[in-house]
Parts: sequence; C-alpha cells; structure tokens
Amino acid sequence: LFAGECEFFFGAQQLGQLPDPDKPEIAFAGRSNVGKSSLVNALTGRKALARASSEPGRTKQLNFFDLAGRLVLVDMPGYGFAKAAKSVKEDWQEMMFAYLRGRPTLQRVILLLDSRIETKASDIEVMDLFDKAAINFQIVLTKCDGLKPGPLARKLESVRALAAKHPAAHPEVIASSSETGLGMPELRAELTAFALP
Ligand code: GTP
Ligand code: MG
Repeated sequence: LFAGECEFFFGAQQLGQLPDPDKPEIAFAGRSNVGKSSLVNALTGRKALARASSEPGRTKQLNFFDLAGRLVLVDMPGYGFAKAAKSVKEDWQEMMFAYLRGRPTLQRVILLLDSRIETKASDIEVMDLFDKAAINFQIVLTKCDGLKPGPLARKLESVRALAAKHPAAHPEVIASSSETGLGMPELRAELTAFALP
C-alpha cells in the first residue's frame, strides 16, 4: 500500500468543498509544527508530498492524499498556533470538528504529540472533544529522534497513562521519527488494516 502510487488529489478550505467520501480515510491532527506533514511524507516515503516547514501554520487547508486508490490520508492544519488571531483559531476548530464528526468514511484520527515538549492544554481540549464526539484517535509521539532512550521510555509511559484516561483513545501509543523512520513500519501496518483490499 505505502510502496504503491500516492498522490495529492484535493485541498479543501471549506467544509462545502470536500471530496466525495468514497474511501476509508485517516486524518492527521495535532498542534502547529508537531510534524503532521512530515509524518505523511515519511509514511509514504515521499520527501515533498505534503509541504512541511519550520514555520508553524504551514498547512492551511485539509489536504487529501490517495494511496493506491485504497486509502486516503488527510493532512490537517495545526491547532494551538499562538500567533493566529482568536477568531481564526475558533473558525479552524469549528471546521476541523465539523469535518471529523461528519465524515462517514473516517476510520481514525492520528493525534500527534511532540515527544520533546509537555502536552499542552489545547491537546487535552482536543482529546476531550474527541471523547465527547466518539471520534477514535491514536496518539503518535513525534520527533523521538530528539530523546535518549530513558526519557523516551518515560514519556511513552506518561502518554500511555494519558491515553488510558480517554475513552476514544486507542491504548497503544507509537513513538515515531520522520527523520530516522522510527515507528513507520508499525504505523504503516496499522493503517493498512483500514485500506480497501
Ligand atoms: P503545520 O502544518 O504548521 O501545522 O505543521 P506540521 O505539523 O505539518 O509540521 P511539519 O511537518 O511542517 O514540521 C514542522 C517542523 O518540524 C519542520 O521543521 C520539520 O522539519 C520538523 N520535524 C518534523 N518531523 C520531525 C522529526 O521526526 N524529527 C525532527 N527532529 N524534526 C521534525
Ligand atoms: Mg503541516
């Protein structure tokens, strides 16, 4: 699946203009700069499929990627971007939740948390909203190349405990790095299970 064809096929800035929901879909969510676009690139082995940038707020629309006609990956804009105006943040939250809640083909949300920083209030808010709306999500820790084994093990343990508190969270947490490829085989295997045959 991940070795086959993959292409960007749709960018949506408004809910009114989403592509037809005709394939299983996986959405990538998380704070600005957490590494969503980089993870989509690392999973698919394409360096610049999704545009990544050191500047937070890079991804400004819902970007849809088709994998071999069997699965759709959706790279979402980030939340918690300090510089964005409050009204923009609220619009984004509204659009993101309307999409996630209303998308019949959505199989799972991959919620990215930066392994190198504390989990923020905005992350907890998002998890609470996922619980309330019964949107299944799985936490993936990003940028794990920046941690030594000891701190990484402790971070994993605390994030697993956090996941256990959220009914909509998948119990398993995956440690990943888009730079070293850590966690990619596990994540690919999980996502493949959602794909069309
Ligand atoms: P927005 O679209 O702004 O919400 O950001 P995003 O979540 O898509 O983040 P993006 O993939 O653009 O990456 C943000 C920054 O983090 C870039 O400078 C990346 O090079 C860096 N980055 C992403 N993944 C990793 C990783 O696994 N390890 C390290 N060290 N840096 C990473
Ligand atoms: Mg992005």
